[in-house]
Amino acid sequence: MNVEINVPAGSSRGYPVTIGRGLTGNCAELLAPVFSGKKIAVITDSNVAPLYMERVRASLERAGFIVIEYVFPAGEGSKNLSTLSDILEFLADNRLSRSDALVALGGGVVGDIAGFAAGCYMRGIKYSQIPTTLLACVDSSVGGKTAADLRAGKNLAGLFYPPQAVIIDPDCLSTLPDEVLSDGVAEVIKTGILDGEDLFSLAERGNIRENADEIIKKCVMYKAKIVAADEFERGERKLLNLGHTVGHAVETLSGYKVSHGHAVAIGTAIITRAAVKLGRCSDEVCARILAALRACGLPTATDFSADALADAAISDKKRSGDSITLVLPRGIGDCKLFETPVEELRGIIKPGL
Ligand SMILES: NC(=O)c1ccc[n+]([C@@H]2O[C@H](COP(=O)([O-])OP(=O)(O)OC[C@H]3O[C@@H](n4cnc5c(N)ncnc54)[C@H](O)[C@@H]3O)[C@@H](O)[C@H]2O)c1
Ligand SMILES: [Zn+2]
Repeated sequence: MNVEINVPAGSSRGYPVTIGRGLTGNCAELLAPVFSGKKIAVITDSNVAPLYMERVRASLERAGFIVIEYVFPAGEGSKNLSTLSDILEFLADNRLSRSDALVALGGGVVGDIAGFAAGCYMRGIKYSQIPTTLLACVDSSVGGKTAADLRAGKNLAGLFYPPQAVIIDPDCLSTLPDEVLSDGVAEVIKTGILDGEDLFSLAERGNIRENADEIIKKCVMYKAKIVAADEFERGERKLLNLGHTVGHAVETLSGYKVSHGHAVAIGTAIITRAAVKLGRCSDEVCARILAALRACGLPTATDFSADALADAAISDKKRSGDSITLVLPRGIGDCKLFETPVEELRGIIKPGL
């Protein structure tokens, strides 16, 4: 049985996120009703293409679509303006029209850069996310954020550009290496800390693959709720940045050698220990969060100094003026936004290291 969750977006009725095993091979059934054009460009990376491109293509062709494919080298290093430019040129060379559509098939890197391309090709064409990593299933494919990294930092270019449909096939996780799965687990634990006991206790047990369907459903429901309340991240949606201020700093300082999920795990651990020092979180809650991260094989510390992390975080885009908004956990299911002057950031991070 498929699960369908609606994500409200803009003034429209929003878009469905459909979760079901085997859906990649039947994606056209869900896409034909929302794509009126003839042609579909499937954008993916060099790891995902040999695994899932054929079944997606076959389904789309059975429904009468003409399919063109664009494959770029896998990895965060491809999430840049050069790949964006190559995708746009590819779409134009293949005469994709405004009524045609794009499918982003892959992890968060594919979703972010292909979604960005959909948002700016001919001032915006329809598109769908078909996430294939746990991270993309539970987080990046939902909510309409698209992005490219700039030399100055991650996600510094991008659009809010919601898809017409998100199709999640948990079967795709079967080919995912444990190391990549654990990146998604970091976002699951983050979401569990925000959402509450139900999800957190599922994640903390550590057997993520067995509980993947339930975990994905709960994460998507939580994200849909937050995005419905604050689509453009003016307030409540900032909660989703739990662990990300320090996490992005770790990612940037490592030259992206530390993956997004692993960096988020480190960021979550540091900000939770910092919250204890600020008197906002109990030792027990902190110990539970650290234990959950470790049980899932995630790191909880970094060798970067508080100075380096604060400097990197301050040059990050999520800063407004002279202050920075941190997300502090107080309990499971209880996090608060905490606005602090940038000059105090180093002092907050240091005891969290
Ligand atoms: N837009 C958002 O709201 C949002 C939210 C969170 C993260 N992100 C972004 O997502 C990105 C990270 O995403 P990610 O962790 O999915 O990374 P990724 O897309 O690089 O995928 C990780 C690796 O797994 C491979 N892969 C993908 N699916 C596979 C499968 N089913 N089987 C085997 N291998 C597979 C990929 O080729 C890649 O090598 C970051 O750039 C981050 O900034 C965006
Ligand atoms: Zn993230």
